[in-house]
Amino acid sequence: MGREIIELRGVGKSFRSADGHARQVLDGIELTLREGEIVALLGASGSGKSTLLRIAAGLIGVDAGSVSYRGQPLHGPARSIGMVFQSFALFPWLTVQQNVELGLEARGMPPVERAAKAEAAIALIGLTGFEGALPRELSGGMRQRVGIARALVTEPDVLLMDEAFSALDVLTGERLREDILELWTSGKLPTKAMIVVSHSIEEAVLMADRVLILGRDPGRIRVQLAVQIPRPRDPDSADVRALVDEVYALMAAGRGRAARAADAAERSPLGRRLPKVDVARMEGLLEFLAEEPFGGHADLPELAEATELSDRELLSAADALNLLGLAQLEHGDLQITPLGQRYVEGTHTLRQEIFGQQLLAHVPLAAHIRHSLEQEPGGQLPEGPFLRLLEEHLDEAEAERVLETVIAWGRHGEVFEYDYNAGTIQLPTGEEDDTAPPPTHP
Ligand SMILES: Nc1ncnc2c1ncn2[C@@H]1O[C@H](COP(=O)(O)OP(=O)(O)O)[C@@H](O)[C@H]1O
Ligand SMILES: [Mg+2]
Repeated sequence: MGREIIELRGVGKSFRSADGHARQVLDGIELTLREGEIVALLGASGSGKSTLLRIAAGLIGVDAGSVSYRGQPLHGPARSIGMVFQSFALFPWLTVQQNVELGLEARGMPPVERAAKAEAAIALIGLTGFEGALPRELSGGMRQRVGIARALVTEPDVLLMDEAFSALDVLTGERLREDILELWTSGKLPTKAMIVVSHSIEEAVLMADRVLILGRDPGRIRVQLAVQIPRPRDPDSADVRALVDEVYALMAAGRGRAARAADAAERSPLGRRLPKVDVARMEGLLEFLAEEPFGGHADLPELAEATELSDRELLSAADALNLLGLAQLEHGDLQITPLGQRYVEGTHTLRQEIFGQQLLAHVPLAAHIRHSLEQEPGGQLPEGPFLRLLEEHLDEAEAERVLETVIAWGRHGEVFEYDYNAGTIQLPTGEEDDTAPPPTHP
């Protein structure tokens, strides 16, 4: 094992949202990055992965614990760390060469030396000939190569990549990842260690020597897995598939029973998160699961392949089905429940009925909204108070997402309606008083 480069000890971090509520994003994080290794960081969105990277880079401070770099406490941006972002973060009015030189300029390096170093970095990442191009003249994959060249030009000790391949189409992302790994294994990178944040389980398994899974509320490292598969790794090999499977199971477990138990213990049931997934995707997944070849039972990697959903999309949809009792998520497998089977076989009306009934039974927020509407003479309430209720437990963006999700689900289950213009939630047409005609289904 190489020498330690970055050490995080008992790191905690909270953010205060606009309404003044503090929310702990990271708690008790222990992480050591050593020379010679690539560490991959996986976790649901919002679990604090980017925050953790920024802390490791010294870009933001911590509330608890300590960060050290090569044995020295880190108080401010570490000079020898390069970062690559999902959004590329290039300056549109600067050429490739100028974008890459930026970091060196800030260090006061003379122009001639700067140009030479930038050219070398540009060549390393395969962009020779494009020095004079503007970002908008390049494809997404080439733009990200500029982002990487800019990070590498300062010859950083450590490279931190935050979902660097996520904005690219699959093939382009894979090619760039393979190129980086090739440079890494052949020793052509100046960099001694990397942390890669990813939302692809396969990407993490293919790249890393260690995979960490970040749980959330607050973000803690839930699982650490060593990846001892020799490089270059074949994505189709049995070793890789088995490990991808295992990581899927671990991540799904975190979202299934364990997460619900933790949620129930740590927050009011009303403030519980909901996986952001639309009804059509949930239904689509359930139908896929019910059909051959799965016949009601499948493991998640197989489902991901069959449905062409990303890990994130699949896990959210599986999570939602599990929450609503239409399927069961266990050990990385998804199993349709008898109710889920009835749902799939049902007419549109039966589906709505089942969905509405499960929503009220399993999502306290939906039941609360429904109950509040029933107490109102007009059967109608503004959404604002519900949003503020959620903001007591979740940050603003998350609260909005949860409300949006529960409204979409509630509409599908005919539990309530939503008026976009007025921003009000109301009982479905015909339900506000008993003399009205029964609801009509479109
Ligand atoms: N500067 C900030 N101010 C307030 N909240 C923040 C800030 N940065 C991140 N957060 C919140 O912290 C949580 C984790 O964010 P992030 O680290 O970006 O997660 P991830 O990268 O895993 O998706 C999110 O709920 C996000 O809204
Ligand atoms: Mg992030």
